[in-house]
Amino acid sequence: MTILTSTANANGHANGPSTGLKHQSKSKSELNFGFSTRAIHIGSEPDPFTGAVIAPINLSTTFKQDAVGVHKGFEYSRSGNPTRAALERTLVSLEVGAGHAVAFASGSAATATILQSLGPNTHVLSVNDVYGGTFRYLTNVANVTMGTETTFLDLENATDDEILGAMKENTKLIWIESPTNPTLRLVDLPRIVGLARKAPSKPLVLVDNTFLSPFYASPLLQGADIVIHSLTKYINGHSDVIMGAAILPSSSTLDHDYDDLAKKLRFLQNAHGAVPSPFDCWLAQRGAKTLSVRMKAHGFNALRIATFLTSHPAVEHVIYPGLASHPRHALARASLSPHARRFIDTELVPSSLAHGVPYGGMVSFRVRGGTKVAGALLTKLKLFTLAESLGGVESLAEVPAQMTHATIPLAQREALGIEGLVRLSCGIEEVEDLVEDLRRALDALQDEENGSGSLTPSDV
Ligand SMILES: Cc1ncc(COP(=O)(O)O)c(C=O)c1O
Repeated sequence: MTILTSTANANGHANGPSTGLKHQSKSKSELNFGFSTRAIHIGSEPDPFTGAVIAPINLSTTFKQDAVGVHKGFEYSRSGNPTRAALERTLVSLEVGAGHAVAFASGSAATATILQSLGPNTHVLSVNDVYGGTFRYLTNVANVTMGTETTFLDLENATDDEILGAMKENTKLIWIESPTNPTLRLVDLPRIVGLARKAPSKPLVLVDNTFLSPFYASPLLQGADIVIHSLTKYINGHSDVIMGAAILPSSSTLDHDYDDLAKKLRFLQNAHGAVPSPFDCWLAQRGAKTLSVRMKAHGFNALRIATFLTSHPAVEHVIYPGLASHPRHALARASLSPHARRFIDTELVPSSLAHGVPYGGMVSFRVRGGTKVAGALLTKLKLFTLAESLGGVESLAEVPAQMTHATIPLAQREALGIEGLVRLSCGIEEVEDLVEDLRRALDALQDEENGSGSLTPSDV
């Protein structure tokens, strides 16, 4: 394994950020490692000074200079920190095709910084069913402070002409989530990338890969220019860190210089200070080491739970793109990362794939009776905790319309199909226990229905 050496960067603090590492690209030997090996070893080399297998957390805010501007790659921890740089190396190694990773204080800080980097009065084309916080930032912040205009479009179903027609001469960015949150719509990324390359304004294509994590999807391999993650979710995986990251490809194209873009993001980050703490970076890196085993278990459990839900009479509709019955199942399979495909093809017994394939840990469904019944269901669950967020080892359940997506206007929530939806973040507990928890709660809903004649929202 190659350990990159720190290099002096005289400009780091005074004139801009330093990464502390000359570059974040991978050596050839690193590229040959499998996903789990990279997750455990890249960026986590033993401490060269003490031999500690787990490198210490570097809490120092400032770094000694041997002469003015002569240092070991770090000057001040807002512009660069060794623990953060180590995590960023791990992230580069996990997102296939990556050459740069910039870790932020939250996924939202990554979003804000990327939108700032576009400059004033630009146009963004966004998938319509976007994370509520991204919708809020685009419409209530970027629009107000920078004149950013956003067109929200159903990128799953829009025709090529509709997508090209929605682009303007100042369209600088296409914002994609796939699957979307919470309706799990799938966007055909290679198609959108092809259309973006045709557009005269040469927009960047960004994928928020939070839901699938680098384990199930590798958007950079499919042509995306930027991947963002809320590390808060699967990458950290233990519901105890708020963090985010922006990840860029290793090789620039004629249209886009990713080295330049990475520098710009670091410059903006240093200027407004949206940096994560070294302790959080250390925790996120520790979490990332088990990403592969966790994602396999999340996917396995989610598939079993989705299959169970389709069979329960109190459930009206189940959305899980891994289910063979999902209308976009073929696209889900085509979008799998090379390592997820290997997992499905070689590690699972065929009987576990009777109803589909693991495809992340998120399942959405609609119970008969609408939003109020959905709320009542969640209070009956014992193992699934009623809470926002996702991606931790513990299972969570929420009603997006009243929780994570409450900032989206009602008419829009109705149009998108968010109203009445229950969203599950399937954890990695014993799957039988999770299914039993859901069965008991759904049966209880049915008992109430039988006891009162018919179940209507006013009954619960
Ligand atoms: C898909 C998606 N992107 C971005 C974010 C924002 O991340 P953070 O909460 O770390 O700011 C979230 C948060 O829920 C999310 O679900």
